[in-house]
Amino acid sequence: MTDPSRHELRHHGDADLAPGLIDLAVNVRAGTPPPWLRTVLHEALDASAGYPDAGPARAAVAAAHSRDPAEVLLTAGAAETFVLLARALRPRRSVLVHPSFTEPELALRSAGHPVSRLLLRAEDGYRLDPMAVPEDADLVVLGNPTNPTSVLHPAADLVALARPGRVLVVDEAFADTVPGEPESLAGRRDVPGLLVVRSLTKTWGLAGIRVGYALGSADLVAALAAHQPHWPVSTPALAALTACTTPAARAEAEAAARELTGRRAALLEALPGWVVVEGRPRSSFVLLLVPDGARVRQTLRHRGWAVRRGDTFPGLTADHLRVAVRDPATSRGFAAALAEVMTTHRIPEEIR
Ligand SMILES: Cc1ncc(COP(=O)(O)O)c(C=O)c1O
Repeated sequence: MTDPSRHELRHHGDADLAPGLIDLAVNVRAGTPPPWLRTVLHEALDASAGYPDAGPARAAVAAAHSRDPAEVLLTAGAAETFVLLARALRPRRSVLVHPSFTEPELALRSAGHPVSRLLLRAEDGYRLDPMAVPEDADLVVLGNPTNPTSVLHPAADLVALARPGRVLVVDEAFADTVPGEPESLAGRRDVPGLLVVRSLTKTWGLAGIRVGYALGSADLVAALAAHQPHWPVSTPALAALTACTTPAARAEAEAAARELTGRRAALLEALPGWVVVEGRPRSSFVLLLVPDGARVRQTLRHRGWAVRRGDTFPGLTADHLRVAVRDPATSRGFAAALAEVMTTHRIPEEIR
């Protein structure tokens, strides 16, 4: 198991990409944003001479989750929320549940806050035991479903982590990849200290627009908002928020999530039987364990396939590869390449 350096914690799937490679490294839905959303963005660009008005988008997000607008924090991507938490809170003991997205840890460390890690284990299927979180943690951060394990924790296990005096951050950047969002806490107003973090990046293909939001008590939202600059979310991002929270858009996201379920099954079925699939995948990517993973990844890359390295995630190793779910033909092509690389291929000298 590795203990990634700070530099490695900054590594994300986009760094595993290069022009010409088939992208299984970044978990943004292929073929996005859809044409109607491009139109929304273009129109918003045309209306961008003035400063943005966040009111309508905030109201739209609040309505979509049956919340009060005061409980909605609009952000320049989910990633901004982690920086705001680090600025606004003074945690004595923050616990980060890993392996997981590393930006929360980086944001807390950069602000000088003490950070401890709770490493979930492969032998437990990377499932969370709520009892394993230290009682004195006043800030707990975890993802659901979790990047990179693709594991979906039961909502009840997350709710069991809430305590008076504790902020519980659930990163739901991938929640809309799960049909019906059965374990989402986005609509829960009864869980003390809960902050749910959401993103438009993955399902709508808006990584470059930087758009997301967080849902929590009005007090917590106000405390975080106090650390934002004026006009933190651009006019195109606000237009996307309003457009992606309509009933029609949410139905489209739900259909995409259902299609993804079939595509994930096709990928798992195509993989060689001796490849270990970690945990029980429920999101738009799967975590694989392959012997000699670093060389396998390099050789796949040489053959035109980009996968996400695993060793920059606390708790994983170079033998872990995260692979995005794509259409069945692409998944079958990848599975065949993986099988060949692992059985017959000798790694060329020049890429060793
Ligand atoms: C689990 C998780 N949360 C948040 C983010 C960041 O999302 P955004 O693009 O909205 O900042 C990512 C991006 O990879 C992620 O994997």
